[in-house]
Amino acid sequence: MQAPLKTLNDGVVIPQIGLGTWKLTDDEAAAAVESALKAGYRHIDTAAIYKNEKGVGQAIRASGLPRDQVFVTTKQWLTDQGRKQARPALEASLDKLGLDHVDLYLIHWPCPRQGLFLEAWQQLIDFRSEGLVRSIGVSNFLPDHLDAIVDETGIAPAVNQVELHPTFVPEDVVAKCAELDVAIESWSPLGMSQDLNNPVIVEIAARLDATPAQVIIAWHLRHGHVALPKSKTPERIASNLAAAELQLRPEDVATLDRLNTGHRLGPDPAKLEPDTL
Ligand code: A2P
Repeated sequence: MQAPLKTLNDGVVIPQIGLGTWKLTDDEAAAAVESALKAGYRHIDTAAIYKNEKGVGQAIRASGLPRDQVFVTTKQWLTDQGRKQARPALEASLDKLGLDHVDLYLIHWPCPRQGLFLEAWQQLIDFRSEGLVRSIGVSNFLPDHLDAIVDETGIAPAVNQVELHPTFVPEDVVAKCAELDVAIESWSPLGMSQDLNNPVIVEIAARLDATPAQVIIAWHLRHGHVALPKSKTPERIASNLAAAELQLRPEDVATLDRLNTGHRLGPDPAKLEPDTL
């Protein structure tokens, strides 16, 4: 089983389903990545703050897959947005991963009050020119943050990784990303597992002889989003990827679209700052 591929605005090709690794320890991440790569995943998402880059890197190397066959994303933490910290932070991530470059590097949160995300974006542009990262993007950016970096540099991020699942769709961010040709990556695509119990989703899944998780992941794919379901359970890891083969009817997509409550589960990107954690 393979995920569909999507071409980003910089020409880089990304598998549309990736394994999320938030909250996994090094050992758990190594086991989950091993399962995922065996099942056919070719895209793994981690971050410096997850503190599991070592485990992720070990499993990628142990798989024996050629480097260019596995798409690896990591993220710059809030306190590393400064001019002094940015380069050592990326070097530390690469060192832990055991890689000489990552496929995608993201600014993890904008932290607008900290006032460093424009500088951080300029540095990511430099890292890309140096070949340390193939593609650059952002995470948790709101429309005004996206406008600010594009106005300043003329370069749009390849992706914006945001909280997005059937019961929470940030419509303003989705519209701005469409306008700027920025791909959306959905974090907590299953709503931290809460959306799996939604009766509407359970009913569609039963009718299609699929799991609720597969219905939700297929919905992300239908919208053109990259979905990053997190799991440490081998059977779930494999079955989540099989969502690539699930065909949703347009009316099912429309039904799922009506589940948006506007209530996020995670932090508000306008408010999260190093001193609010
Ligand atoms: P686990 O890691 O124990 O398998 P999200 O990606 O939206 O944050 O959701 C992650 C949560 O959803 C985790 O608790 C994970 O549990 C659970 N999960 C992932 N895939 C499935 C699945 N196919 N069925 C049920 N729960 C799942």
